[in-house]
Amino acid sequence: LPPSNIETIDPKTVFSDPRFQERGVKANANGGVTVTMVGMMFAYLPNEVHVPAGKPVTFRLTSADVIHGFEIVGTNGNTMVVPGYVSQFTTTFPTPGEYLIVCNEYCGLGHHTMSAKLVVEAAQ
Ligand code: CUA
Repeated sequence: LPPSNIETIDPKTVFSDPRFQERGVKANANGGVTVTMVGMMFAYLPNEVHVPAGKPVTFRLTSADVIHGFEIVGTNGNTMVVPGYVSQFTTTFPTPGEYLIVCNEYCGLGHHTMSAKLVVEAAQ
């Protein structure tokens, strides 16, 4: 699907940009959450996030350097993380558990080590 809106960002100032200064998980009014993460050689910041099962989870991602991937293995969560742009998508994880997030775009010598953990927690 084509992106519904194009949101740009200066990759050189990602960490001082108000949209990405505070990274991690934030609760939304609808019971879902927004996850804000930065991809960079060769890590995601933060490298572990906890989200609720069965609620909408909106990911907001950008890169501080080169093109990275963002694939939540075993789910439909998958996007490119491109410097200069904010990638955003919303999905729901019905099944609690631990999921591996991997980079699926070759980004350099440490590409194969670039990963993070998504923990989907059962509703309270
Ligand atoms: Cu980041 Cu491959």
